[in-house]
Amino acid sequence: MSVTVTAASLAERVRELKRLRNAVILAHNYQIPEIQDVADYVGDSLGLSFKAKESDADVILFCGVHFMAETAKIVNPAKTVILPDLEAGCSLADSCDAAALARWKADHPGVVVVAYINCTAAVKALTDIICTSGNAVRVVNSIPRDKQILFVPDQNLGQWVMQETGREMILWPGACSTHVLFTHKAIFNLKQQHPQAKIVAHPECLPAVRMVADEVCSTEKMVSYCRSSPAPEFIIVTEAGMLHRLKKECPGKTFIPGPTDSCHCNECSFMKKNTLEKCVAALEHLAPEIILDEHIRRRALVPIERMMSLGR
Ligand code: 13P
Repeated sequence: MSVTVTAASLAERVRELKRLRNAVILAHNYQIPEIQDVADYVGDSLGLSFKAKESDADVILFCGVHFMAETAKIVNPAKTVILPDLEAGCSLADSCDAAALARWKADHPGVVVVAYINCTAAVKALTDIICTSGNAVRVVNSIPRDKQILFVPDQNLGQWVMQETGREMILWPGACSTHVLFTHKAIFNLKQQHPQAKIVAHPECLPAVRMVADEVCSTEKMVSYCRSSPAPEFIIVTEAGMLHRLKKECPGKTFIPGPTDSCHCNECSFMKKNTLEKCVAALEHLAPEIILDEHIRRRALVPIERMMSLGR
């Protein structure tokens, strides 16, 4: 007789294993709804970094992508940090190689390196300060104005920060393969059908998309913006997992996924690698585990702590 494993029974098994392992489940806003619903905390990269640092659980099940789980291990090394699928990568992290950054730095002494948290631990170890989309403007404003800055690896976020701070920066030519698919034309066409809708975009989007947005912000700030706005409808121009969180936090409002030229539901294939089945397996076997070279971990911690010292 075959037994159908339902999402509800998998979620129950995750909760049971969580208790047995004394684990905490941290999930990014882009995770599938079933994972968001079993998590202890759902948030953006910044909130998740603080939660990971503050956790007193024995195990952190990090439901996000690899660089996020690495960050949890960097800030809280005594914990066992597990990621449901080790293949959950990030196109931005892939776009900046540590060896290439080391060569660039050797050729440009004295330049302050600001890195978006979407990078590997090895890249973080080479930087002066980390930022997330939620605090990038504050981080760049904290650097003395006479210093030249290299911003890695997201050129779109970097351009937005330049606009917001009035500060010139050298930009690493990286981009998020999901966010660059949104187009201002597709958004403009959708807006014709929803004239009341506010357009909310992530700063990883292309400049033309950011220009048509009413608000540009991190995923966590999208929640507070939509909650406090009197508008009844929003076009959400970021990874589609965000809509689950928004619908939960803002009942009665309508959320429409931002369109690309070819689809109405733009998802990050890396974020979607994590499933409830993989969460069960990870908690059962305490694997795949994030293991870091201690020398790299210590060096990567310095720029993260600098960011954290600026507050949430
Ligand atoms: P935030 O978590 O800072 O909103 O950024 C989302 C993200 O990592 C997009 O790639």
